[in-house]
Amino acid sequence: MIPFFVAIFLLGLSSLATAANFNQVFALTELDYEWPSEASRAQALRDGTFKPENVYPRYMAVYGTRLFLSLHKDEGIPVTLVSLPTSSASPKLTPFPSRNMHGPGDCDKIEEAKGLEVDSVGRLWVLDQGSISSNCSAKLLIIDLANKDQIKIIHRFPFRRWLHDLVLDETPDGTFAYITRSIEQNIVVFSLERNESWMVDTPGIRAYAIALSPKDQEARQLYLSEWNSNQQFSVSVAALRNGTRTANLNPIGNWTAISSFRMLMDNHGTMYAAFFQENHIFSCNTSQPFQEQRFHQVAGVYTGLPFTFALDQSGTFWMTVFDDKKKPRYRLLKATVGAKSYTFEASQE
Ligand SMILES: *[C@@H]1O[C@H](CO)[C@@H](O)[C@H](O)[C@H]1NC(C)=O
Ligand SMILES: *[C@@H]1O[C@H](CO)[C@@H](O)[C@H](O)[C@H]1NC(C)=O
Ligand SMILES: *[C@@H]1O[C@H](CO)[C@@H](O)[C@H](O)[C@H]1NC(C)=O
Ligand SMILES: *[C@@H]1O[C@H](CO)[C@@H](O)[C@H](O)[C@H]1NC(C)=O
Ligand SMILES: *[C@@H]1O[C@H](CO)[C@@H](O)[C@H](O)[C@H]1NC(C)=O
Repeated sequence: MIPFFVAIFLLGLSSLATAANFNQVFALTELDYEWPSEASRAQALRDGTFKPENVYPRYMAVYGTRLFLSLHKDEGIPVTLVSLPTSSASPKLTPFPSRNMHGPGDCDKIEEAKGLEVDSVGRLWVLDQGSISSNCSAKLLIIDLANKDQIKIIHRFPFRRWLHDLVLDETPDGTFAYITRSIEQNIVVFSLERNESWMVDTPGIRAYAIALSPKDQEARQLYLSEWNSNQQFSVSVAALRNGTRTANLNPIGNWTAISSFRMLMDNHGTMYAAFFQENHIFSCNTSQPFQEQRFHQVAGVYTGLPFTFALDQSGTFWMTVFDDKKKPRYRLLKATVGAKSYTFEASQE
């Protein structure tokens, strides 16, 4: 009996590697912010403006030695966008770009951060979905990580809420962002050069997770999955750049799981996907007809909530694992995959 239990215990602790070898950066029971003072932390715990049990990382981006996380907006979560060092075994969540940039009821501040992406020149793109209670519309912030975290652009959308995730299409003729909205049958296209955004209908499809084919691939494709469905679609971005108002979505295949939350493309055309109610990360090679593969499983995790992940500039795949039933509740894992994010050309090493 003893060896049996020991084996289960070890499986529970370590990740069951399949295609990649993951190392654990941290495994923690609690994640805490960096506070201006111990007194302000104690006060926030007392009055319920901070409830550590409600911390749940949903979106991730990496740049250099910093990791960025959007936290699920919940009671007791005063700041939804944080940074943390990539190398610490017990990191603090630092409000990003500053504590002062967060707060309810001020439409110039960040109210509820969602999808995050870093572009090829080191700018962090942040979706903020605003709020209905304070009547702030959703917006996009572009923050220059290589230049003192200066906020470069704040673009306001004409709607509130339901932003999910984004990808960046950097072309010689300008940079576009494609943005999904969880419950709407449309996506949003933003042109950086024109500082303009518009809606593109996706009839019958509520696009949710989003990925973009590698930069140097001809006829760049956008990949969309649908909320509450296992269907995978592709759409050519040429028409989106050109201002079409209705996307022509091609079904390319089906995942075995439903509701992909996060998808991510590397610069060699492997697409990764994380799902609700799944402790597997799946992948597929987008240069071939759609076929799902199992990229990585984290064994012994009890969670309905999906993992989130990002690729950095040096070929490392970063992933947070959240367990809502048992400890450790928070893990940061990393693996060398030898591929960068889709924002880099495959030839750029
Ligand atoms: C909310 O904002 C919109 C546009 O910014 C404005 O027209 C509307 O009156 C505002 N509503 C409330 C309740 O303040
Ligand atoms: C971009 O557009 C927003 C409106 O969404 C405006 O407030 C802002 O000033 C514009 N920025 C630049 C640099 O033109
Ligand atoms: C995009 O628009 C340009 C200029 O109107 C046109 O020359 C080009 O063929 C269009 N491309 C596509 C893919 O529609
Ligand atoms: C994918 O699922 C859809 C809807 O359930 C179904 O109509 C379609 O035939 C499936 N496609 C494949 C390739 O299995
Ligand atoms: C994906 O498929 C292409 C075309 O078959 C192949 O050249 C490439 O090596 C594959 N990528 C991986 C990571 O297996």
